[in-house]
Formats: sequence, structure tokens, C-alpha cells
Amino acid sequence: MAPRVGVVRARALNGEFAPPGDKSITHRAVLFGLLADGVTEIRGANPGQDCASSAAAAASLGAVVVRAGTGWDLTGTAGRLRASATPLDCGNSGTTLRLLAGIVAGQPFTTTLIGDVSLSRRPMRRIAEPLARMGARVSGQGEACTPPLTVAGADLRGIDYEVPMASAQVATCTLLAGLGASGRTQVTLPGPARDHTERMLPAFGARLEREELPHGGRRVALMGGQRLHAASVEVPGDFSAAAFFLAAAAAEPGSRVTARGVNLNPTRTGFLDVLRAMGAGVEIAHEHVAAGEPVGDVTVTGPGTLRPFTVPADWLPRMVDEAPAWAVVAAAAPGVSRLTGAAELRVKESDRIASIAAGLGAVGIAAEAGADSLAVTGGTPRGGARIVTQHDHRIAMAFAVLASRMREPLWFDDLASVPTSYPGFFDTLAALGGGVVPEPAAGGAH
Ligand code: S3P
Repeated sequence: MAPRVGVVRARALNGEFAPPGDKSITHRAVLFGLLADGVTEIRGANPGQDCASSAAAAASLGAVVVRAGTGWDLTGTAGRLRASATPLDCGNSGTTLRLLAGIVAGQPFTTTLIGDVSLSRRPMRRIAEPLARMGARVSGQGEACTPPLTVAGADLRGIDYEVPMASAQVATCTLLAGLGASGRTQVTLPGPARDHTERMLPAFGARLEREELPHGGRRVALMGGQRLHAASVEVPGDFSAAAFFLAAAAAEPGSRVTARGVNLNPTRTGFLDVLRAMGAGVEIAHEHVAAGEPVGDVTVTGPGTLRPFTVPADWLPRMVDEAPAWAVVAAAAPGVSRLTGAAELRVKESDRIASIAAGLGAVGIAAEAGADSLAVTGGTPRGGARIVTQHDHRIAMAFAVLASRMREPLWFDDLASVPTSYPGFFDTLAALGGGVVPEPAAGGAH
């Protein structure tokens, strides 16, 4: 089928919105609920396809998953999973695949995990390594161990593992395997990867130890043989979804946008620090706690002129999913803004250093990609260009909000990836004052 052509034309954005539920927290609630005994109630769940992949996989492994309100009631397996009759399709979701691999590694059966074209290119060596050390047999494709990934479950033993990159997915995979292993499992993270697992596992009855390390790293340990018990999870709003509209506000002088009920976990909000450093107004109100996470309303105001800024390497893990939104702001700051220490961006849903650089180039903004860096020289983006999204939801959404600074419409090869994480994205864009031009009939101008 020929790629769908979408067009977005927006204006300066203003107003308030509530982003969808946090994707990382929804995945964890579903997958911890799968392991638990009793009914886990998840409300405010992320409505996107990634979390639906986790819910479907949980059902294939023996959970009873029923739609309830804004989420699911999920009856867990009390740790006795059922072998799936078919390969578990994780769709586009790296979190689903990596966390599930840790869960099935200690089960007495073999599981095959598959994904879409993007996920089938992503490296799984990083989880195969600790799982193999624990005693599981994990095989993928080629040197990078890409999916399809086969995990032959075994009696696991706990390990002491230094995670080479600041990846919450790798740490969580290892800890989930550790829950079913004998002895103690400890992971050491070299930087401030998101800590939702450590915050949520105790709500499911798990006991773990945590120690903060220099440079934002941490050590987390738990004993094997622990049973999880069902919990109620009220999922806060997703900061990474909100970030696109906050970026649009920062990039437009006088624009003011409020995201309500957003997760403000400090391991996620590096992008707010960047916005402040670039001179945008950032206000936080109505702070409270939900699902063990700090939550609040965030208002961003665009300053007269943004200052260019180099994001230090050790900030990157705290904004790892916000690089596409950062590009929107960097493109508006006169001078050169940079991301450094950003090699992980090359192995996300697309090679985001390359996708961002290509998209910015297409709209006339100079962007220089390095192996683990990206330098952007701010300017006036040109409409009329065609963005190749690489089927990456965050690339599509970033360039959709960048269009708010253009007079001419911006064209996309494909916008079908957006519901991966944010099915209501275009409704919010319209509610904040953006215009979405319907796609032209086949054979249109572009
Ligand atoms: C996630 C962790 C991050 C992030 C991803 C979600 C999670 O990946 O990019 O979108 O929910 O644990 P890494 O921890 O591998 O960097």
C-alpha cells in the first residue's frame, strides 16, 4: 500500500490540556499485575497501541484482562504464567518486549517475542546478556540479537549486574527476572534512568533496596521468590506526551500552554530544566502524588527570544524520549543548541539523531548529526516540505508541532504511528489552536 500522506498546519498554540496516561507506568501496572495474585485496577491508562500490546501479551500469558473505565481490571496469575500458544507480538513497543523477556525468563516454558519492522531492528543483546547470566537461554537475530527473540525459561539465579547504559528497560527486565530467581539480584545504573519500577513494585508488595550513586546513577536490589499482590494504579499524565505542546509554547513568543496532571518524576523532567536554561517560563502548580509519582500542572510560556543551550551528557537520560520535542525548541533558538552523550537515540523507535536531522534539514534548519550528538542552528522553518517520520510516533508529533511556526502546511509521508502513544494528539493540537488540514485526495500535490 502506498504511504498515507498527511498534512498539518498549525498556529501559535495556547490553552490547557490533559495528556494521556503515562505509557511507562501503564506498561508496568499491566505487567506487574500479570505476575500478581488478585485483581489489579488500572485507571487513566495510556490508550495507545504500545500499552494495548502489553495488555494483549498479559492475556496471552494467562491474565484475565477486562476493559474497565479508563483502563483495565486485570486478574493476575499469582506467578504461574501460561505458555502462550503463539509468539507474543509486542508491536512497536520496546518496553513490552524487554520487560516481558524478564518475566518469562524464569517460567518453565519457551516464549517467542516478536515486533513490527521498527522493533525488529532494535538491539536486545542488552537484555539477553543479564538474562543469560541468570541461566535463561535467549536467542535473537545476528550480533545485536534483534527480535524475533526466543527465551527458554529456566531456574534462574540472582546476579549482580552493572547495566552498561542508563536504561530503565534493562534494569527492569533484570529485576523482574530476579523476582523469580534464587538469591539476590542487584542492578547498578550508570545514570538517572527513570525509576518507575522501583516506585511501583513496593505497591505490589515487593521489598527492594535502593542506593543513590554519584552522577545520578543508582543501585537496586531485591531477593528472589517474592510474590506480588494486586494493586490499584491511578496513572498520572504522560510527561513525554505533554512535551510536544510544551515545546511548541516555548518556541513561540507569548504562547502559553498548560499540561494538567502530568507525571513530574525528576527522572523524566530533564526537558523542563532545558526549557528553563533556554529562557522559557516554566511554572508548576497543584502538586500531589499519584501511583507513587509526583504529579502537577505544568505551564510553559514562550520568551521573546530563546537562548541556545548545550544539553550536558548526564542530563540526557532524564529527557531521553524528549529529544524530538527538544528539536522544536532548538530550531527556534538563534544560535547553536546541542545534545551530547545521546548515542541511545540511535536505537529508539527510529534512529532519532538521523530522523530529526533529516526532518530539520527538509524544513531549512541546519542540523549536524554526530555519532552521539546533534547540533541544531535555530532559524525560521520553511513549510511545504515533506517529513519522513520513519513510522516513529515521536518524530511525527514533534514535526506536527513544529508546523505551528510555519505559514505553509507541512507534509508527512505517514502519520499512522501517532496512536502508538497518543491517539488523541491531533484533537489536542486542534483544541490548542492548531489547524490540521485534511489529507489531499490520492495523487495530490505532494
Ligand atoms: C522506558 C525507558 C526508556 C524510554 C522508553 C520507555 C521505560 O528506554 O526510552 O520510551 O518505560 O522503561 P531505556 O530505559 O531503554 O532508555
